Order: sequence, then structure tokens, then C-alpha cells
Amino acid sequence: MFKTRITEKLGVRYPIIQGSMLYLSLAELVSEVSNAGALGMLNSVCLTSKKALRDEIRKTKNLTANPFAVQLVYLPASREIPNDQFIETIIEERVKIIETVGPVQPAVISRLHQAGITCLHKATTVRHALAAERAGADAVTVEGLECAGHAGMSDVTSLILIQRTIQEVKIPVIAAGGFVDGKGLVAALAMGAEAILMGTRFFLTRECPIHPNIKEFCVNAREIDTAVCLRSLRDPVRYLRTDVVDKILEMEASGADLKQLLTVVSGENMRQAVEQGDLTKGPISVGQCVGLIHDIPTVKELIDRIMNEAEEARRRLNIIQ
Ligand SMILES: Cc1cc2nc3c(=O)[nH]c(=O)nc-3n(C[C@H](O)[C@H](O)[C@H](O)COP(=O)(O)O)c2cc1C
Repeated sequence: MFKTRITEKLGVRYPIIQGSMLYLSLAELVSEVSNAGALGMLNSVCLTSKKALRDEIRKTKNLTANPFAVQLVYLPASREIPNDQFIETIIEERVKIIETVGPVQPAVISRLHQAGITCLHKATTVRHALAAERAGADAVTVEGLECAGHAGMSDVTSLILIQRTIQEVKIPVIAAGGFVDGKGLVAALAMGAEAILMGTRFFLTRECPIHPNIKEFCVNAREIDTAVCLRSLRDPVRYLRTDVVDKILEMEASGADLKQLLTVVSGENMRQAVEQGDLTKGPISVGQCVGLIHDIPTVKELIDRIMNEAEEARRRLNIIQ
């Protein structure tokens, strides 16, 4: 049932991947996702040292015997990310799957392949998906403009980007940006994708360690309640539309530079907002699919429900003449 090259390659039961989320996709959430039969993904960029990553990997392993991934971030960041040290830890700890994001890293992929590690890459354009394939990535995730977080400069929606990528690459494609349920999963598989990756949907689960105020606010948000900021830095990011986000847009319109913008958009601002439940503290990444989400299930309830819905959608399609 729903077996694809991705479920085979990653050794997971279902073709569902949890997108990495700054400060949030740590051992507790990741292990719940993996235990429920999907692939959990640890965010490494919020871990400041090799030891912190090692501890998080070990904690995750204690909580699940199933595969999980670690994300390596090569996007511009407000501080240097010790990725070389993280790679050593990933190899030493025998993590089986990594995802890179940002410019494609052929040397990293080749080093990790030598250690027997499966390498996924997350991209926002066909050009970058092709670059990932050339560099030897085992699969590529493409996410369209509607996604939470880094949306890319080309403004192409998931519906187009996923199909265009499948037209061009031979490696398996993972569809991201706008997926929340079993109907979306079947739609992605129908387009030729081999799994979905979801961020906003996992953000709004019981286990995601954010303040209940934020969950409540997001469950009532509509698909039109997000905005893309930071185009001026050529690194557009989609956030929940709040007063802070309007302020960022105003700062950009009046020519603010990176240093000035970082006083409002740093990951630390987001951490304070989600931990304290205070939307004045910083912007929060969510995708347009927030408008499709109306509840806060547990991770297991969510994944079971998605697979039941997918089965139902498949049956419905079978009876259409
Ligand atoms: C709260 C939040 C934080 C995120 N942080 C990151 C991150 O640190 N790195 C990253 O590559 N993507 C991040 N993302 C994006 C997700 O990994 C995923 O690519 C995206 O959410 C998929 O689109 P969707 O939200 O429409 O499902 C974040 C998403 C959310 C909702």
C-alpha cells in the first residue's frame, strides 16, 4: 500500500516526511513522527555544537527504533553553522538519512555517500533540483511558493513546480508546499511524486513544542493570512501575517539592510514568539495551507488519518468512470 521508491529507500512505512522546523523539530516531535511510520527530521541549525547535535540524535534514538533524518542547512544564517562538525557527528552516530537545503553541496553528498548515508536535497526551483541530481542526491524535495519558510525567488506554485521537476529529473521527487491531508498525498502521487513533506501541518500537532496561544491562533487563520517577506534580501520567507510581519515589510520598503532586518526576523525572535505565545516577539513561518487546518491532532492521529483519507481518495477515484 502506497509503496514508492522513497518508502523503499528510506525504510519508512508511509510516503510522508516531516519538514525540518527551526527550534521545533527536535527529539520529541521527530521520534513521534518516525514511530507513527513517517520520516521525522531533526533541525540541526538551532543546535550550537557538535555535542548538542550528538545528544539530540541519541535522545531521538532512545525514543524510536525507526529511521529519522537530520537536516544540514547551507542557507545564509545570522551565525556560522558548524556543518563540518555536524557531518562528523552524523557519520559517527550512524544516522542513515540527511537532507541538505540551500546551495547544492556535491562534496558533502559524496562524503556522506561514502559513509552509506542517503542524501535528500530540498529545493525551490527545477534548476536546483537538477543540480542536486547531478551532485548525486538520492531524491529531491521541491516546494512551491505556498510553503512555510524559504519560498525561493521564482514564485512558482507547488502544482507547477512538482510536475515540472518530475519532467526533468530521474531521481524520486518529494512534493512539498501546501500538503496537509490524504487527498493531497494522493494528488502528489498522481502527479508522479513519491512522497509528501509537510511543515505547517506538523507545526499544528499536539507534540509540536509551541505555546497553545500560537496553535489556537493558527487554527483560526485563513489561507490569506500569510505574507512573504525578505524579497529585498533575495531570500523570501513566508510568515503568518501579523503586526511584526507588516513592520518587516515596511522596513524593506524603506530600504532596511540585513543588519536592521535581523533585529526583527532572527530565529531567536521566532523562538521567543513560539515559546511565549506572543506574536509581537517575532515572525512565525507558516504556509498558505494554514487555512486548511482546523484542529490539533497528535502526530499519530494525524498520520493514521492521512493514510485513511488517502485510501478513501483512492477508492473514490476507482469508481469515477
Ligand atoms: C514553524 C516552521 C519552521 C520552519 N523552519 C524551517 C527550517 O529551519 N529549515 C527549513 O529548511 N525549513 C523550515 N521550515 C519549512 C518546512 O521544513 C517545510 O519545507 C515547509 O513547511 C513545507 O511547506 P508547508 O508548510 O506548506 O507544508 C519551517 C516550517 C515551519 C512551519
